[in-house]
Amino acid sequence: MSLQEFKVGLVELYQGEVIGEVLFSRMLEHYGSADQLYKLGTLLQLETEAKARLRPALMQLGLDLIELDESRNQGNDFYQTFEGMDWEAAMGHLATVVKPFVQRYRQIAELAPPEYQQLANSMVVHEQSILDAAELEAAGNGDRSMDDVVKQLVFPLPKQV
Ligand SMILES: [Fe+2]
Repeated sequence: MSLQEFKVGLVELYQGEVIGEVLFSRMLEHYGSADQLYKLGTLLQLETEAKARLRPALMQLGLDLIELDESRNQGNDFYQTFEGMDWEAAMGHLATVVKPFVQRYRQIAELAPPEYQQLANSMVVHEQSILDAAELEAAGNGDRSMDDVVKQLVFPLPKQV
């Protein structure tokens, strides 16, 4: 376990949020009901807020704040894999896409020095909440699917009824 390994992980977390922002933003183009708009917007908000929370740590550790085109491309590539899917299929697919990130974020949290432990753990909670939301949606249980996501937001979106 070294600080260097954690730094690599922290950059990965940051770029992961860039990927997620592009994915959810692109998905907003295709899933347009009021309910889908609220849920995708809420997931987009989660990604944006996480990215903002990570930035001070990156700065403190002398890491790059640049949002890489490579990450944006990866978000677009992920989006392409959703093509033609209805909502429930898309949410099932989202769960599959997110699962490896949850595992990786756990590894990164284990590398975190004490002063970054809380931040790193919050990123595991963050990613797990996306996985849980996607699994609930895929199973047709959309009523409370975003609860754990919304809990983490400083700027939650208004629910359109
Ligand atoms: Fe994320």
